[in-house]
Amino acid sequence: MSNRILVLGGTGKTGKRVAERLQNLQIPIRLGSRNENPPFNWDEPGNWQNVLKGIESVYITFQPDLAVPNSFKQIKLFADTAKANGVNKLVLLSGRGEKESRACEQIIIQSGMDWTIIRASWFMQNFSESFLLDSILTNEVVLPVTNALEPFVDTDDIAEVAVSVLADNKHSHKIYELTGPELLSFESATSLIAKELNREIPYAEISIDEYVTALKSYQLPDDFVGLIQYLFSEVLDGRNESVSTDIEKILGTKPTSFKEYVTKTAKTGIWKVQ
Ligand SMILES: NC(=O)c1ccc[n+]([C@@H]2O[C@H](COP(=O)([O-])OP(=O)(O)OC[C@H]3O[C@@H](n4cnc5c(N)ncnc54)[C@H](OP(=O)(O)O)[C@@H]3O)[C@@H](O)[C@H]2O)c1
Repeated sequence: MSNRILVLGGTGKTGKRVAERLQNLQIPIRLGSRNENPPFNWDEPGNWQNVLKGIESVYITFQPDLAVPNSFKQIKLFADTAKANGVNKLVLLSGRGEKESRACEQIIIQSGMDWTIIRASWFMQNFSESFLLDSILTNEVVLPVTNALEPFVDTDDIAEVAVSVLADNKHSHKIYELTGPELLSFESATSLIAKELNREIPYAEISIDEYVTALKSYQLPDDFVGLIQYLFSEVLDGRNESVSTDIEKILGTKPTSFKEYVTKTAKTGIWKVQ
């Protein structure tokens, strides 16, 4: 089938939400996943063309993260392969304030295809679908020292924007900054969750070196440890302490607040301690 949209990371935090919304709109999609047929794996470029057959547009979420060194090499190879296989539009999920992500954005911008860049702040869902979930479940959040405030964004809002962008060419050649409506510290985000759950969830900060040593002792992948180290030692320095109005401009509704995210997420039972 032609005019199909490929959703890379289609089982991930933003991809599954984008895929669900496109399916609800009866827009044909292909899920990019290592478990689909044909499979998509960032480490197996020889198979990418099978996934790209009959695809017009691609929503790109890179793994493990655009901020890892050399991500631009894979993004360049992917963009070239996509173009050679007849794709004409790329939508890239990017991060804010990371030079590695900027390099990847430039590759997409100069790909010769239609493009839109979605630059997102830290996902609220890091507390419910990612590395901070265990901390909430064990009632103790420990993070590296940071004074930076973050405008956490809801991945449901990111997905709504991605679908608008994929469906309407008026968003072509634009860079959007997606943030939530308010700046919060990690400590205040944690206490909003604790308050909703009516539980004590103490928050503590340790040095980045102690934190990295702890992550390594849990045998977490080197890529992930390096990424967290980079984010907390360089990117979380205040450079992203600003709120954008792009979500409201695109969707016509205000971005989800952290409190609203907490209320809806608590209802799913994901933070329930067994
Ligand atoms: N987390 C944040 O706060 C944040 C903020 C701004 C930007 N970002 C950007 O968001 C991107 C990640 O997007 P996301 O959070 O929506 O995705 P995600 O939840 O991290 O996506 C996980 C999905 O990626 C797939 N995947 C894992 N390894 C893969 C591989 N080697 N090849 C192909 N697919 C693989 C997995 O699918 P299968 O297991 O089904 O293969 C998995 O379901 C990153 O590039 C990052 O730069 C993140």
